[in-house]
Amino acid sequence: MKELFDVTRLGNLELKNRCLRAATWEGIAEEKGQINDQTLALYADLARGGAAALITGYAFVLEEEQPSPKMFGAYNDTFIDAYKSLTDIVHENDSKIVLQLVYGGSFTWFNTESRVIWGPSAVTNKISGVTPHEMTPLDIQTLINAFGDAARRAMESGFDGVEMHAGHGYLLNQFLSPFFNRREDVFGGSSEKRARIIFDIFENIRKKTAPDFPILIKLNCSDFMGTKGFTFEECLALCKKLDTLGIAGIEISGGPVFRAPKTEKEPTLEVTLPAQDSYFSEYARVIAEAVSAPVILVGGNRSVETMENLLNETEISCFSFSRPLLCEPDLINKWKADKSVKPRCTSCGQCFTLDGNNCIQNREKAA
Ligand SMILES: Cc1cc2nc3c(=O)[nH]c(=O)nc-3n(C[C@H](O)[C@H](O)[C@H](O)COP(=O)(O)O)c2cc1C
Repeated sequence: MKELFDVTRLGNLELKNRCLRAATWEGIAEEKGQINDQTLALYADLARGGAAALITGYAFVLEEEQPSPKMFGAYNDTFIDAYKSLTDIVHENDSKIVLQLVYGGSFTWFNTESRVIWGPSAVTNKISGVTPHEMTPLDIQTLINAFGDAARRAMESGFDGVEMHAGHGYLLNQFLSPFFNRREDVFGGSSEKRARIIFDIFENIRKKTAPDFPILIKLNCSDFMGTKGFTFEECLALCKKLDTLGIAGIEISGGPVFRAPKTEKEPTLEVTLPAQDSYFSEYARVIAEAVSAPVILVGGNRSVETMENLLNETEISCFSFSRPLLCEPDLINKWKADKSVKPRCTSCGQCFTLDGNNCIQNREKAA
């Protein structure tokens, strides 16, 4: 019988249990992406809370491109020393830490007037209203190198791995999507060509890091846009290919996830996710059967019973949690003591605001 608290692995990365903190933008970094004491305190708290590994909020890889305010940066070597303190504090508290890397692209509301925003093609993003500049082959190479350099910095800072964010409507997801990617060169057209940027980034990271440095990816199982978007069949094929390349873990999400602010005066992003437990499990089940790389399921994981049933009925290896740990950073320890504990998180999604995130229940408690 498999259990949530089994020791397991993501490639070279040994995990004390099957629970990860899913990447969660905190909105607490400094303006240019540097971490601070608040960051260290938050990650120490999360590490003490029992998750085997913490995936950071997304970090931008090019200085000019920052999709959200006060997010982590990873775009030059000045970050390395501060990140060493972050990885140390997590390791001292018996957890592991993976840096999530992103290029946001047109799915952004932050500083959109003052910067050049790249896209695979100049297709207007109807959610944000942003029309990106179509990337030249040189821009694409610059970005591939930026991901590789950021991963090298992560390794030098003591991170236990990196995760490419290729889901939720951000740039790598857009390359995968025939709606956003209308290119006719080697980076567009067939599904294999639309995925090429991801393979090139993977190789660039591999070249710049140790041969067994864990590289993870977060993917939409589907964009849920019919054949206009990235489909489940394409996701499955991509996962099989990444498996042959040696991906250390595939985190399965789905998209599009967030709705736009309703008005400028009302900037809360409402999370519109399905309500049922572990809602992408049917997609993750099929993928996990087809690949040897561990599959991590994210989204709506709220019941140990459901997760342990999935562990025993499917090949899914791990589960990641975002909103429940925003509400209760020590939820994993609570589950370790009593598997019947019900998380306080109600999946209301109000934790995500442009002023930084925090759980509405904790806000009410503090007031
Ligand atoms: C406040 C907030 C910030 C998030 N930031 C990120 C992020 O930086 N990178 C990412 O891949 N997903 C991000 N997500 C999505 C979560 O990782 C996760 O996929 C989603 O919330 C569903 O999981 P849950 O039901 O455990 O919350 C964020 C979600 C929330 C609520």
